[in-house]
Amino acid sequence: MSQPLSAPAAHFTKILEDQLARARRLAQDDGFTDYGALDRLIVGVCGGDGIGPAITAQSERVLKLLLRGEIAAGKVEFRTIDSLTIERRAAENRAIPGETLKELKACHVILKGPTTTPRAGDPWPNIESANVAMRKELDLFANVRPVKVPDQGIDWVFFRENTEGAYAAGSLGLEVGDVAVDFTIATTAGCRRLIRAAFEHAKKTGRDRVSIVTKANVIKTTDGKFLAIAKEIAKDYPGITMDDWYVDIVAAKLVDPKRRRDFQVLALPNLYGDIITDEAAEFQGGVGTAGSANIGARYAMFEAIHGSAPRMVEEGRDIYADPCSMLRASVMLLEHIGRGAQAGDLERALDICSFEEKRLQITGRDTGCTCAEFADYVCSKLTTV
Ligand code: IPM
Ligand code: MG
Repeated sequence: MSQPLSAPAAHFTKILEDQLARARRLAQDDGFTDYGALDRLIVGVCGGDGIGPAITAQSERVLKLLLRGEIAAGKVEFRTIDSLTIERRAAENRAIPGETLKELKACHVILKGPTTTPRAGDPWPNIESANVAMRKELDLFANVRPVKVPDQGIDWVFFRENTEGAYAAGSLGLEVGDVAVDFTIATTAGCRRLIRAAFEHAKKTGRDRVSIVTKANVIKTTDGKFLAIAKEIAKDYPGITMDDWYVDIVAAKLVDPKRRRDFQVLALPNLYGDIITDEAAEFQGGVGTAGSANIGARYAMFEAIHGSAPRMVEEGRDIYADPCSMLRASVMLLEHIGRGAQAGDLERALDICSFEEKRLQITGRDTGCTCAEFADYVCSKLTTV
């Protein structure tokens, strides 16, 4: 007997209606928050799950040290938001509890530890990832992930589209009989703002190449749109070369020592950006070393690129977790709020501790130092405090 299709068709119609409404909202340009003009800038801090609280606490400590003058003067305020835990999310059966969302929206920028993402078979309800929900709720469209290995000439900045692609309706797929369907979404305004951000970053930082990474030869409609829009936008940046790559060959070329240093700024749809940035971080010492900025017009959130590592907590090893991902995210937070001197100071201190002097090693267990000891080491190299 054939399957009735009216319910799946209605489900698809609803997804399309919601996405069309979102695309209309995006098309109205909001303008970016001017952090310098605020009387008081509010930084929300969510520890998250697993190793999150341990590594986030170290970043918060370093940020408070760097900003202590402005904190004392009431120009900057840190607010703890401790309700973004998997236990609370499970109890409310929501990716982000309602109260937590209100608290997040009362901040300007957020420092967020990793949060556990449930999946089928876990003890938790299979709710949407808190990261994904926060990126959508706060419209954090550009996920900026730098990776650098100075002695190998690697200096990459990934601009991952953060609210669309396979993630936009990733929890809204459907099964019709034996057929499972997910949706991938690209909007004109969504592609434009991400690709423009990548070109603007290249221009601002003196880079002369932006690589667009898609699978437009196979995923013709959405990836095709992303690439076509990139070609249009590239015309506005005559000093910058745009090249176009398929994601599979980029995955291969990143491991080619002769070719990989040619990449500078890379712009990718959401899922490819997720995968390629984990690969890229591995060259720098692993996902524990990589920070990530989630930028929107109104809000911004800064986090590690890795997960909550619950096994480390079960084995009592959270105190040995690498705080560098969150410290690198803190550099990006400082840069984003216009505190360039402090950002540069923290970045320099991290480079000394991670690449140059390397007096302490983080191994994730008691064979290395604790995350607090590493943060002390970083603080000892700061010159503006
Ligand atoms: C990331 C993570 C998330 C993602 C997970 C936790 C949902 O892998 O930030 O890269 O897929 O975006
Ligand atoms: Mg990821």
